[in-house]
Amino acid sequence: MMERVTLGPVLFTAEAISARVKEVGAEINRFYLARGEPQREVVLVNVLKGGFIFLADLVRCLEIPVVVDFLAISGYGDRGTSAGVRILKDLSEGIRGKEVLVVEDIVDTGLTLSYILRNLEARGPESLRVCTFLDRAVKRIVPVEVHHRCFEVGEEFVVGYGLDYRQKWRNLPHVRVLRGERAQVAG
Ligand code: PRP
Repeated sequence: MMERVTLGPVLFTAEAISARVKEVGAEINRFYLARGEPQREVVLVNVLKGGFIFLADLVRCLEIPVVVDFLAISGYGDRGTSAGVRILKDLSEGIRGKEVLVVEDIVDTGLTLSYILRNLEARGPESLRVCTFLDRAVKRIVPVEVHHRCFEVGEEFVVGYGLDYRQKWRNLPHVRVLRGERAQVAG
């Protein structure tokens, strides 16, 4: 079947994103600074691929000591469970006793994040928190705690600022709604 998918309206402009990422960065700085001296290093765990642009902007707003590490996860197979999720690329360092902040592009059903949190928790971090660029709570299947979020989105499928449709449009500097028949079921 021919796909008729096109870019729709801009939901968040590059300027709005930049301003909001700075606010969330400041929120994260305040949280970890309030944990007291000596200032402990925070491990930012970025979930590939979608999170790379958010991470790159967020990290430059942080004044606390940070290191970055990357996880790649396969998508879940069966709808409604995280049974098919597995790690394709693991962290390069251990996180036992570390302050860990997971950085996601979007939390949708919560299946990916709940798997990641269970997996990371088992490694014994001192703390484990979540920051996401977009939160689509309306699609949540598994409850997950999101500590920092830039924007809430509804049912609409969105692309740009790291988010893709079939690997395309991650490079858009803004977030746009995708229009078309396949866009309704893709995300
Ligand atoms: C997206 C996103 C999250 C996940 C969220 O990844 O980066 O990891 O889906 O969905 P969920 O809450 O329903 O589990 P995707 O599998 O599209 O891979 P990508 O980051 O490489 O685009």
